[in-house]
Amino acid sequence: MLADAPSDSLRPRIVILISGSGSNMVAIADAVRNGDIDADIAAVVCNKPNAAGVQKAKDRDINTQVINHQEFASREDFDLALMQAIDQEEPDLVVLAGFMRILTPAFVQHYEGRMLNIHPSLLPKYQGLNTHQRALDAGDSEHGVTVHFVTEELDGGPNVIQALVPIHDGDDADSLQHRVHQQEHIIYPIAVKWFVEGRLRMQNKLALLDGKHLPMTGLALQTS
Ligand code: GAR
Repeated sequence: MLADAPSDSLRPRIVILISGSGSNMVAIADAVRNGDIDADIAAVVCNKPNAAGVQKAKDRDINTQVINHQEFASREDFDLALMQAIDQEEPDLVVLAGFMRILTPAFVQHYEGRMLNIHPSLLPKYQGLNTHQRALDAGDSEHGVTVHFVTEELDGGPNVIQALVPIHDGDDADSLQHRVHQQEHIIYPIAVKWFVEGRLRMQNKLALLDGKHLPMTGLALQTS
């Protein structure tokens, strides 16, 4: 719970999972703090003890837990511990924000329809890693980032929103990643806001906004 946010048990509860720098978590936490997102961040959970995002969450007085995946014998055991920690917080929404673990089918099924992920490509293009370099290597003129519901298919659930980022002459993976990251911090809070307001949901593996099916790409946000 944010220290300066009023406690209201009726507000939707969000658990955010991170593995790294936590900048998307911060963007969502800022949107909660300034009232753009009317919800409580019940917890931030990280699988890496030294991830920079852990301190950022603590600095914001958010309930922060580390569950080190290396301390578990199997992926199933880790996911079970993670699930127990999450469920203790009774979240309405689970937000994967740079959570770099492949999740077991049991975990994904448990949160289906109430778990979002952000992936740095225009899904279905470039599932997996090194997306910026792959877009450059392919000679694409456009790259971007997608927020999608999580289903059992890795980076494969229905898209909610995409930000399109043009590729400039002279771009390298770092410059492209930097511009994509800036867009992540815009579109992820939008998607979370839609969800906690009850406007966004998943039905029959399709994303709906205000009761209408979203296009397969998700809602597209064009940037310059
Ligand atoms: C973000 O760029 C996010 O899109 C990516 O990890 C980064 C986390 O940054 N996620 C994935 O690649 C998931 N497949 P952050 O820790 O600063 O939010």
